[in-house]
Amino acid sequence: MFLHTLTIKIFHITNLNQSSRLFTHRDTPDNNPDTPFEFTEENKKRVEAIISMYPVGHKQAATIPVLDLAQRQHGWLPISAMNKVAEVLEIPPMRVYEVATFYTMFLRQPVGKYFIQVCTTTPCMLCNSDSILEAIQNKLGIKVGETTQDKMFTLIEVECLGACVNAPMVQINDNYYEDLTPKDIEDIIDELKAGGVPPPGPRSGRFSCEPAGGLTSLTGPPTGPGFGVRSDL
Ligand code: FES
Repeated sequence: MFLHTLTIKIFHITNLNQSSRLFTHRDTPDNNPDTPFEFTEENKKRVEAIISMYPVGHKQAATIPVLDLAQRQHGWLPISAMNKVAEVLEIPPMRVYEVATFYTMFLRQPVGKYFIQVCTTTPCMLCNSDSILEAIQNKLGIKVGETTQDKMFTLIEVECLGACVNAPMVQINDNYYEDLTPKDIEDIIDELKAGGVPPPGPRSGRFSCEPAGGLTSLTGPPTGPGFGVRSDL
């Protein structure tokens, strides 16, 4: 009983800390309004192209793609980059902060070269995402929210990444790795460490998200357009 209570207490303390890191900004020497950020000339053209896709007077609709562009250029989003996005979209900075703090895809702290996001939401959890998380932590010697000393890997835990049918899965930078076992994720990390890029997708032999046990419908040749039409009509 005592152990159970203690576990719950630790769980709550951890959550509070992480939630504060997710939503609170504190100026640091590397992340403050004066941190240099300017879109490159090439990206300025991309910003214009993105904005042109939205109706006149609705630049705010471009917040997510322009934030994404800023992050791809800088590697993460210092507050100065968010302020620049607000400036080019002609909206209050708070509108940008609201978006950047809501989505885990936006990184407000520097991350390692490989950013590992482990999904632990219910379908992945039921397919033992805990074992994947544990394997990564053991392999890299870091906990959730930490970066390896060589700045190669950052690990976080995220909610559903929309690939539940291929659970358990992780996202590493832009790639999804699916149908994972602990050995699969260890092999993936080894390949990344060796400078390779493991092919994304399922590791189970499935091509995509077809039924794991083989097809259950549409198993015969199509019957043609007359299928289902009564012959006596
Ligand atoms: S629950 Fe993991 S991808 Fe949806």
